Amino acid sequence: MTKIEIQKLLSEQSKHLIGKDVCIKGWVRTKRGNKNVAFIAINDGSTINNIQVVADIEKFDEELLKNITTGACLSVNGILVESLGKGQSVEIIASVIEIYGIANPETYPLQKKGHSLEFLREIAHLRGRTNTFGAIFRMRHAMAFAIHKYFNDKGFFYWHSPLITASDAEGAGEMFRVTTLDMNNLPKTQDGKIDYNEDFFGRETSLTVSGQLEGELGAMSLGKIYTFGPTFRAENSNTPRHLSEFWMIEPEMAFYDLDDNMDLAEDFIKYLVSYALENCKDDVEFLNNMYDNSLIERLRFVVENKFVRLRYEEAINILQKSKQKFEFSVAWGTDLQSEHERYLVEKHFKCPVILIDYPREIKAFYMKQNDDGKTVRAMDVLFPTIGEIIGGSQREDNIEKLILRMQEVGIEPKDMDWYLDTRRFGSAPHSGFGLGFERLLLFVTGMSNIRDVIPFPRFPKNAIF
Ligand code: 4AD
Ligand code: MG
Repeated sequence: MTKIEIQKLLSEQSKHLIGKDVCIKGWVRTKRGNKNVAFIAINDGSTINNIQVVADIEKFDEELLKNITTGACLSVNGILVESLGKGQSVEIIASVIEIYGIANPETYPLQKKGHSLEFLREIAHLRGRTNTFGAIFRMRHAMAFAIHKYFNDKGFFYWHSPLITASDAEGAGEMFRVTTLDMNNLPKTQDGKIDYNEDFFGRETSLTVSGQLEGELGAMSLGKIYTFGPTFRAENSNTPRHLSEFWMIEPEMAFYDLDDNMDLAEDFIKYLVSYALENCKDDVEFLNNMYDNSLIERLRFVVENKFVRLRYEEAINILQKSKQKFEFSVAWGTDLQSEHERYLVEKHFKCPVILIDYPREIKAFYMKQNDDGKTVRAMDVLFPTIGEIIGGSQREDNIEKLILRMQEVGIEPKDMDWYLDTRRFGSAPHSGFGLGFERLLLFVTGMSNIRDVIPFPRFPKNAIF
């Protein structure tokens, strides 16, 4: 008999199966019962909900029943019946039970009782089997799917920027080196430096911090593209919002100015959040009830309200006038800290905010310079509980200005000749942004630590699994 997934079995479409033989496969969540009957709750990962299997003790081997413990993997055949018990619509009266794999109760770490998120982080290889992480990782999938759907429906092309690169897109020097050189016997040049000519690619290479620069080449040829892939940052940030390996979505569009860019970013996020509300109902409700009972309200609020758009300078004024005690002081020219971003969003406007026109000194070299000679056409989208969720800009399309800016920040224009060709041949106004996938997931799941929204998190001093 072919197996059916529990999610399908519990849905309205499976009503016609009542009274029929069905087969399910999955992992035992709990077993309880009495002398005559065992109730086994089984989950196969397809939904937050379990199916209850009812086993008549007399019909089954004692040894087999003994081995049905939390975590064991089973295949069950039986008749689907309407359930009399609370909490489930249907259940299975078992006729055949096969154990695929036992899970010794003495050593299996996920027993019934609720575990802390901290403890589960230590057993990240097993935590997908809990309700919480099942919900989070199903939502991770749903958001990834929605991202591709959104862009495909809007005529964007999925563009693959390389992961191994020789350029530091953000110019922050936070890159992981990629090399095949023998660390114990490094080849040296005559002046004693490491000789990267001997390295695999014949030059210094690293893991990318952003697919943007190559994405711009896509926009300059296909018009509208987006990347969606892993990015890597060797910044020593041990915060609940930073990962060393995270996924980023970077759309890049020819003929978009900063206003078009903001419109796209706002529409995109609203689409994703409503997608989560509509398509991940059971999981969102579970997370709302278990962790954060204002989650659904917050998601709805973001979908229904227009984001505030504000110049950096105005934000600085608001922060300086506020009576709030900040850890870091605020002055024109300083980068905003997460406490400042959250004050603007959560206390002052009580609404997502898009901040634009930042001082050029605190932003990357590729951003379009404003006529005032001190600010650039940057935009950061700031979200409640998260802070910065998106960073983007209109790009500098004037080659002279771009080269000058590169020189100012110490980038050798000759090393990025390929990038400058976009401005040299048929330059066009264009814009783009980057959405941190895990920051989005923090928002839609209501989780508060970024290490809980990616299956195997990477952060300083941690690369297990
Ligand atoms: O603001 P960032 O650094 O911008 C860029 O990388 C641009 N190249 C994007 C573009 O214009 N195409 O990063 C973009 C977003 C941030 O807003 C944040 O959501 C996320 O990426 N992000 C991180 N997420 C997790 N861990 C980290 N260490 C992150 N650094 C940035
Ligand atoms: Mg940023």
